[in-house]
Amino acid sequence: MRRFLAALFVALSLCGVTPVLAEDQAAAPTPQPMPTGVLKLVGNIEAGKKIFNEGKGEAPPCMSCHGETGLGDDNMGTPRLAGQGFVYLRKQLYEFATDHRTDTTMGVMNGVAKALSDQDKADISAYESSQHQGALAAASNLEEVKAAGTVPVGERHLGKGIVLYGIPEQGVPACSSCHQYNGRGALPVFPTIGGQRYVYLVNQLRKWKDGSRANDPLGAMRAVAGKMKDEDIYNVAAYLTSAPAVSGGNSREPHQLQPAAAGASAH
Ligand code: HEC
Ligand code: HEC
Repeated sequence: MRRFLAALFVALSLCGVTPVLAEDQAAAPTPQPMPTGVLKLVGNIEAGKKIFNEGKGEAPPCMSCHGETGLGDDNMGTPRLAGQGFVYLRKQLYEFATDHRTDTTMGVMNGVAKALSDQDKADISAYESSQHQGALAAASNLEEVKAAGTVPVGERHLGKGIVLYGIPEQGVPACSSCHQYNGRGALPVFPTIGGQRYVYLVNQLRKWKDGSRANDPLGAMRAVAGKMKDEDIYNVAAYLTSAPAVSGGNSREPHQLQPAAAGASAH
């Protein structure tokens, strides 16, 4: 784990972000690394699918909030889970269960995650990471979000510049320097943010900015979002929600280039 953190520190520095070290953050809870026994668990896709659709024990069916196909919902502020990386999803469930991340949107995920065993968490993460449905399947309809009126909507073309180049005069690095081309993800550490729900993206960036979400390794996201204005957050989310994962010259998404079995549990 130490070696992993040291390597991450170097990677973050190369991305132009000065990681915020634990000493500077006496108030923020530092997530504990998952125990090795938990890290070794391999997910069972079929078992995860059953929990997602039907729930298990005290845990309600995930689909009731995350949508039948795991694509999230802007009215509830739930994220797309489908196609997100295995390691990232499992980390989030573990940190909700240990209260190192708090769901301040609906106030439910901490209870949901506590009701799941470590094996259940691995099973659901394996199921969702296997559900690739194309980069834009969950792209939010920004006209509908605007009409709902609860979250301001930004300008897509202004957000594109932030994703590709950052905002140099404010010290904001390009999102793609860590999250890869158009935010399609650099697994296992950097989650997919392209094709994520608009409202969820805005909420997370606000939470990184005010510190109410603090489970990012080495404070990487708090360092980024802390330098963004509210308008920057709306603009970048407006671009990301419908940012294509492929460029004209290479039409295959990264997961299509990997053997099918690797997608489920390795990343
Ligand atoms: C009652 C609604 C509700 C139910 C049921 C629910 N969730 Fe959630 N979930 C949410 C909300 C709201 C968030 C966003 C929290 C936030 O804004 O930080 C969320 C966030 C998450 C995240 C974080 C994703 C990310 O990109 O970081 C994961 C993982 C997750 N849920 C998994 C599950 C699983 C697995 C189940 C079923 C066992 C489930 N959820 C059931 C409402 C729900
Ligand atoms: C220095 C690397 C780095 C840069 C640059 C960076 N991120 Fe991140 N980001 C991370 C890491 C690491 C995580 C995963 C945090 C965790 O494990 O909970 C993350 C997570 C996120 C999440 C939460 C995803 C989810 O499903 O909950 C969002 C949203 C996000 N980043 C947006 C952005 C945006 C927008 C930019 C550009 C303005 C950006 N990031 C730039 C490292 C970075």
